[in-house]
Amino acid sequence: MMQDQVFNNIPAQYEGILAATRKLSFDMASDLQTGALLRTLVAAKPAATILELGTGSGLSTSWILQGMDERSHLTTIDNNALLHEVARQNLSDRRINFVLTNGYQWLKAYKGESFDFIFADAMPGKYDLFEEAFSLLKNGEFIL
Ligand SMILES: C[S@@+](CC[C@H](N)C(=O)[O-])C[C@H]1O[C@@H](n2cnc3c(N)ncnc32)[C@H](O)[C@@H]1O
Repeated sequence: MMQDQVFNNIPAQYEGILAATRKLSFDMASDLQTGALLRTLVAAKPAATILELGTGSGLSTSWILQGMDERSHLTTIDNNALLHEVARQNLSDRRINFVLTNGYQWLKAYKGESFDFIFADAMPGKYDLFEEAFSLLKNGEFIL
């Protein structure tokens, strides 16, 4: 029997972000299983360069951060200023670049380093602009 209801080490910031998220009536946050999977995938990639499309209020970001080692970096993107602020205030960390912008424009314009892992959880990347998102992955790496 698979046991998927036990979560160890839920990120310390998670409850605070969840409370702020509920106040904003934001209901598109990832569940705990997705968070735990993100942490595991990220932890398997030392010194990773990571992209998250759709920060939301930072719930998934908190799991990604927990999986990151000291040499990993995350760029996370959202166009909602209220959600962005909740994430930024709760997860301030030198390894995270919080970008408040339109993901469609960002994906088309980005010319920086490729990524080891992409979590695509916004319209751009998840439902639109697949090719642009895939083209930002390093060879052999993966997108969720
Ligand atoms: C499913 S929610 C992200 C949830 C978050 N990853 C989590 O697990 O808590 C999708 C997010 O995409 C953002 N979004 C929608 N359209 C966007 C766009 N054009 N550019 C950037 N972000 C966008 C929304 O503001 C929303 O926060």
